[in-house]
Amino acid sequence: ATGLHRVPKALSSMYFYDDAGSRLFQQIMQLPEYYPTRAEFAIFREHGPAIAAALSPADGGAFSLVELGAGDGAKTKLLLRELLHNGSAFTYAPVDISAGAMTGLVVALAQELPSLRVVPVVADYATALTQLRTRPGSKAVLFLGSNIGNFHPVERLDFLRQLATPLAPADRLLIGFDLQKDPRRICAAYDDAQGVTAAFNLNLLTRLNRELGADFDLAHWQHYTDYSPLNGAVRSFLVSTCVQQVHIEALDETFDFTAWEVIHTENSYKFTLPQIEALAAEAGLRVVTH
Ligand code: TRP
Repeated sequence: ATGLHRVPKALSSMYFYDDAGSRLFQQIMQLPEYYPTRAEFAIFREHGPAIAAALSPADGGAFSLVELGAGDGAKTKLLLRELLHNGSAFTYAPVDISAGAMTGLVVALAQELPSLRVVPVVADYATALTQLRTRPGSKAVLFLGSNIGNFHPVERLDFLRQLATPLAPADRLLIGFDLQKDPRRICAAYDDAQGVTAAFNLNLLTRLNRELGADFDLAHWQHYTDYSPLNGAVRSFLVSTCVQQVHIEALDETFDFTAWEVIHTENSYKFTLPQIEALAAEAGLRVVTH
């Protein structure tokens, strides 16, 4: 909650994904407006064999398939099936910050793909990167769901450089970038008619109330997002609808909010192909295909 000292106030989007938040995010992925999940499903369905081949080492040797932010792994299952089908020798190492999501994934995989070797890791990205450095052998890394868009540009490059460091030239990294498109379509994806995204954003405050003894009154907070086609960023905010004070017991601190002051909770950047090429080059990665 240290971001509440910043101007403007901010909370790290990492904290969205407690177990309740992960469940809400699963609902977001089902929304008619939220196109990124369906787009990735379609890509895996249409290009599954080619993607599986591109991720497997050319010599047919064993490898680790590490997925950062695996969540419920729904779309990854298509790819896992494809890899098992073509006889790849691999271990699937899903990483997620939500223990609840990970348990769900492990149980589902044991039922649906019983021959799959799974080494689940409940961790944040920083811990996952450290573990990646000590993981021996060939690697393929998945970073899907437009999660790359949730980094600030400076941190994005830094993250990719750290991710690139333990990878050998023959290792593979598959990133799901969301491309810039009709601004109205993007706006709708982050502000759905049913209010699931609003509930997801507001869950941050519920979590602060529960885990840090804060007294946010959810009746006085709103979900708001904007998208700028100039920089490709969707920004998500929690808006204070009145003058209010919030006390956080665990910090023994009180925070003042003016009417319509915001807490910035998330960025979701959308990209262009030239930006992706430039980012790869800066991070020391080579684009093999897209
Ligand atoms: N990785 C997702 C994205 O950027 C996360 C996300 C989807 C999200 N909807 C959200 C984050 C709404 C905050 C608010 O698309």
